[in-house]
Parts: sequence; structure tokens; C-alpha cells
Amino acid sequence: MNTSNQHKAGHVTTRKLLDMKQQGEKISVLTAYDYTMAKILDRAGIDVILVGDSASNVFSGHATTLPITIEEIIYHAKAVVRGVHDESGRAMVVVDMPFMSYQISGDEALRNAGKIMKEHGCDALKLEGGKIIADTIKRITDVGIPVMGHLGLMPQSIYKYGSYKVRAQEEHEAEQLLEDARLVEEAGAFAVVLEKIPSALAAEVTRMLTIPTIGIGAGSHCDGQVLVINDILGLNREFHPRFVRQYADLNSVIDHAVQQYVDDVKQGSFPSDEESY
Ligand code: KIV
Repeated sequence: MNTSNQHKAGHVTTRKLLDMKQQGEKISVLTAYDYTMAKILDRAGIDVILVGDSASNVFSGHATTLPITIEEIIYHAKAVVRGVHDESGRAMVVVDMPFMSYQISGDEALRNAGKIMKEHGCDALKLEGGKIIADTIKRITDVGIPVMGHLGLMPQSIYKYGSYKVRAQEEHEAEQLLEDARLVEEAGAFAVVLEKIPSALAAEVTRMLTIPTIGIGAGSHCDGQVLVINDILGLNREFHPRFVRQYADLNSVIDHAVQQYVDDVKQGSFPSDEESY
């Protein structure tokens, strides 16, 4: 029997995330898009790895998350799942459903959700939206596929917003977000991402919901935090939003290493006798 996709002991589950919220233990989430990074994150003790559609930006170089396809997200997800399973197997793997793979109809959303789940053996899917996709979340969770919601700044709607500014600062938008959060929980989501909203509003949503909230640019009161791996490692020179804490400057480290390699090759000092056969 092929056991490669079977969970190992200690694997983080939706139940475990709920327990963490109830016990006041914060949930750590980072994105990953490939095997090697997934292994590093799992080994370092991350609770959840998100195969974000931010792969569209940071992996493929698109301006937005909209272009990524189901086939592309499945490709990334398979690599990440393999990485986690080859390491401790502890981290939960959540995968973004790409733009327009779940918005057209409930039937199509269910078919695509099933396709993504079956093809790479991840743990759950993430969908952006509140009231407008609550029925879809219900249909997907009803067949046993766990769903993480995503409210506030929803990057798949960037052309509607026209900018990446903080959402729900106006009273009516904050009220809509509270209603959306309630509907997403009622529809069966096991957690919800809150992106770029005022800290006080995120705190209110966190108090109101039984399920965990995972913040990005939503302050410290959320039950967990998520960031894009490329941002915390400083891989990207251009993108420094206020909500990112950069823990390393890998751009400079890699730049320096590559310059040294180029010099060594040009000068003929690489490879040495010890590095040759
Ligand atoms: O795609 C992504 O990386 C995300 C996170 C930023 C929440 O959705």
C-alpha cells in the first residue's frame, strides 16, 4: 500500500487548530510553493503551510494572483505535500483555490475542489469571499473537504478595489465583514484569514467566532498569523509593507554567494583539485 500521503503522528488537524484557539496557543502559518521550502518549514515547526495563490506573484512574476491556474496550483501543492511527508509530516497543508475556479457555480466549485484535493493529498482548501460564496463553502465542507475562508483584502478582487489599501475602515464595510465572518463560520469553514483590516475589527471578529482567525496585516489579536515566505526571508528587494517582519536578508546573501561563484569561475579557482575527480 502506498502510505506516502498518510498522516504521521502529531499532524496538525482542523480539530487541533480549534483546540489551539480555545487554549490561547497562537497558530503559525507561512506560505510555501516547493518541496525544499516545505521541508524546512515543517522541520522548523510551522503549524500550517499555505500553498498560496501568491505563487502567481512571487514564483511566476505576475502582477496579481489572478493568472494562476488549477494545474499550476496542483503542481506547487504536490511538491509541498511531498516535502512535508518527507520531513516530520506535522504541518497542515492548505491550498488556495485559484481565481474563477469556485465563483461560477457550486457544481464547478465542488468539481474543482475535489480535483485539487484528490490530486495532491493536501489537508484543506482556502477560498476568498463572504456572503457571496457561503453556499459554496457549505457544499464543499458538506462532502468532507475542510475550507479556510479569507476576508478583508481579498487579492483576487484587486481590480474591483483598485488598490491594496487597508479594507473595512468605514463603518458599513466593517459591519459587512462581521456578517461575512459569521456566514463563513456557519457555512462550515474551520478557520478564516483576515487580511489588511484594522486591528480592533480583527479583535472583534476573533472574539465573535468559535473558529480561529489567521491575520495578515490585521494586528496581534488574531488567533494566528500568516506571512508570505519570500517576504520574511527578504528575498524580494522591492516589497516592504508595514505588516511584514523581515527575519533575514536572503536577497543579499544569495547576491553575495552568486557574485563569489562568478568570480571563482572566471578566475579559474573553482573547481579546485579537491572538488575534482
Ligand atoms: O496567497 C497567499 O499567499 C495568501 C496569504 C497572503 C494569506 O492568501
